Formats: sequence, C-alpha cells, structure tokens
Amino acid sequence: MKRTVLDYALKIRLPLTLFIIAVSFILTFYISRAERDSVGYAPEQPIKFSHKLHAGQMSIDCQYCHIGVSKERHAIIPSVNICMNCHSVARKDKPEIIKLTHYYNEGIPIPWKRIHKVPEYAYFNHSVHVNKKIDCASCHGDLKQMEVVNQVKAFTMTACLDCHRNPSAYLPYLSKVNLGPENCSACHR
Ligand code: HEC
Ligand code: HEC
Ligand code: HEC
Ligand code: HEC
Ligand code: HEC
Repeated sequence: MKRTVLDYALKIRLPLTLFIIAVSFILTFYISRAERDSVGYAPEQPIKFSHKLHAGQMSIDCQYCHIGVSKERHAIIPSVNICMNCHSVARKDKPEIIKLTHYYNEGIPIPWKRIHKVPEYAYFNHSVHVNKKIDCASCHGDLKQMEVVNQVKAFTMTACLDCHRNPSAYLPYLSKVNLGPENCSACHR
C-alpha cells in the first residue's frame, strides 16, 4: 500500500507538478514580456491631445509639429506656441484649451510624458531613417488612429537588428532599401 502511494507520487505527481510550474513560468515570461519592452505603454497626458483628431481627421502633417524628424536625431515634441497658432482662436472656451492657454501665458512647458525611449548608451537618429522614406508607422504604428499615443513596437536591440538584417521584410513599400548596420559601434558610439 505505502509503496504504491510513493510510486504514484514519484511517477505521476512529481512530473505533473514540475510540468505545471514550467508551463506557468513560460506563460508569465511571455505575457509580461510586452510590458518589459514598454509595448502598450500609454500614459495619461497633461492635456488630452488627440493624434486621431489632428493628424487623422484634420490631416495635419507630422512634421508640422515634429520638426526634427528629417533634420536631426530627435523628432521633438512641439512647444505650446505651435498649438497656439490655431488655439488662440480654435475652441478657446473648452476646458482643455483653457489649460493649454494657461501654460502658454505662464510660459510653462507642458510636462508631456515621454513614451518611446532607447537607453542613453544606444544611438538612434530619426533623420537617417526618415530621409530613406521609412514611414513613421513602421516603427510607431498608425498614429492617425490613436486617441492616446500607445507604444506598439519594442525598441530592443533585437528589434533594431531584425529590420537592419532584412529591411525589405519590414519595409515592403520601398522598392529599394539598403541594409542597416550591424556593427556594435554604429549604435553604441
Ligand atoms: C498638432 C501637432 C502634432 C501633430 C500634427 C502630430 N503630433 Fe505627434 N505628438 C504631438 C504632441 C503634443 C505629443 C506629445 C503628447 C502625446 O504623447 O500625445 C506627440 C507625441 C507623439 C509620439 C510619442 C512621443 C513619445 O513620447 O514617445 C509619437 C511617436 C508621435 N507623436 C508621432 C506622430 C506622427 C507619426 C504624426 C503624424 C501621423 C504626428 N505625431 C503628428 C503633436 C503632434
Ligand atoms: C492647424 C491647427 C491646429 C493645431 C496646430 C493644433 N490644433 Fe488642437 N484642434 C484644432 C481644431 C480645429 C480643433 C477642434 C476640432 C473639432 O472638434 O472638430 C482642435 C481640438 C483640440 C482639442 C480638443 C478641444 C475640445 O474640443 O475639447 C485639444 C485638447 C487640442 N486641440 C489640443 C492641441 C494641442 C495640445 C496642440 C499642440 C500640440 C494643438 N491642439 C494643435 C486645431 C489645431
Ligand atoms: C526606424 C524607426 C523609427 C521611425 C521610422 C520613426 N521613429 Fe520616432 N522614434 C523611434 C525611436 C527608436 C525613438 C526613441 C528615440 C530615443 O529615445 O532617442 C523614437 C522617438 C520618437 C518621438 C519622441 C521624441 C524623440 O524625438 O525622441 C517622437 C515624437 C517620434 N519618435 C516621432 C516620429 C515621427 C513623426 C516619425 C515619422 C516622420 C518617426 N518618429 C519615425 C523610432 C522611429
Ligand atoms: C523598420 C526598419 C528599421 C528599424 C526598426 C530600425 N532601423 Fe536603423 N536603419 C534602417 C535602415 C534601412 C538603415 C539604412 C539606411 C541607409 O543607409 O540607407 C538604418 C540605418 C541605421 C543607422 C546608420 C545610420 C546612422 O545613424 O549612423 C543606425 C545607427 C541605426 N539605423 C540605428 C537604429 C536603432 C538604434 C534602431 C532601434 C532602436 C533602429 N535603427 C531601428 C532600418 C531600420
Ligand atoms: C542597430 C543598433 C544596434 C547594434 C548594431 C548593436 N546594438 Fe546593442 N543595443 C541597441 C539598443 C537599442 C539597445 C538597448 C535596448 C535593449 O536593451 O535591447 C542595446 C543594448 C545593448 C546591451 C545592453 C544589454 C541588454 O541586452 O539589455 C549590450 C551589452 C549591447 N547592446 C551590446 C552590443 C554589441 C556587443 C553589439 C555588436 C555585436 C551591439 N550591441 C550592436 C542597439 C544596437
């Protein structure tokens, strides 16, 4: 009697328990992976600014606000006076625009929360990518549909290298595209 209970414990219970532990470990690893890579990060912003409205419905060009993309490393978040080109008139009486006007009048920069970020020790430059006609959406998803900005792709080293090694798979709309660099010093300068 005792022996069969032990047999059962060793031959069935134990492997089964180990199997369940392994499965739940693998599951949590993959499920929490997106979180670790910042995918899905969509913080609440100090002003409810909508890309869907401005870049989508009103078709304002990305570069009207993100003036750095074709010239330099950073895309740049627009300063309040770019908003005031329109909002000194448009929707002046709305609560969010009253808040916006307050920042403008007081000369306080809007404390927008940063969403996409590579660590300091890695080098990324918008202009080289954008000037090769790589669409913003290939890296940031379709902002024209976003009420709130949401990170849709991971910016890990693997993600950079996947596209650099095989750009035509990621950029099917470009008829000709060079490979991106894979040497360490290109991105770690
Ligand atoms: C009217 C100005 C305006 C236009 C047009 C605009 N943006 Fe933005 N964008 C902003 C502001 C303001 C923020 C910061 C607040 C936020 O995240 O919503 C921002 C944030 C972003 C971010 C996230 C920045 C971060 O912190 O990581 C991305 C990516 C972005 N914009 C891409 C685009 C793309 C692509 C387009 C064109 C399809 C576009 N934007 C058009 C004003 C604009
Ligand atoms: C080219 C003109 C233009 C620029 C530039 C612009 N907006 Fe707007 N925005 C509008 C118009 C027009 C509306 C109203 C659209 C509607 O409701 O149909 C609007 C609506 C809004 C609303 C919603 C207001 C409400 O009804 O509650 C917010 C918030 C807003 N804008 C913030 C911003 C911010 C922040 C910036 C700068 C980063 C900015 N806008 C730049 C034209 C502009
Ligand atoms: C090849 C991928 C790629 C493309 C294409 C791209 N971005 Fe980015 N974007 C990034 C990365 C990576 C970051 C984070 C950069 C950092 O931390 O220095 C970023 C950050 C940003 C930010 C935050 C502020 C900043 O400058 O760091 C904005 C705004 C932005 N991108 C807008 C745009 C717009 C608008 C376009 C298209 C005109 C675009 N991006 C095209 C990868 C890309
Ligand atoms: C969707 C594709 C794609 C993604 C994603 C991408 N790149 Fe690139 N990158 C390219 C291509 C294509 C080139 C080559 C452009 C050329 O020289 O024609 C390039 C060139 C570069 C260069 C060489 C030019 C320079 O600035 O000196 C660097 C560095 C670079 N990428 C860094 C990065 C980093 C860092 C990331 C990730 C955060 C990244 N890239 C993500 C497509 C991509
Ligand atoms: C195309 C750009 C690119 C190239 C080429 C590249 N890296 Fe990276 N690397 C990154 C980015 C972006 C990060 C930060 C994001 C992350 O942690 O994945 C990073 C992170 C790292 C880290 C931090 C550890 C980690 O994984 O978080 C190490 C170490 C590293 N890289 C070493 C290297 C070495 C060694 C090479 C050459 C064989 C290399 N990298 C080539 C873009 C690049």
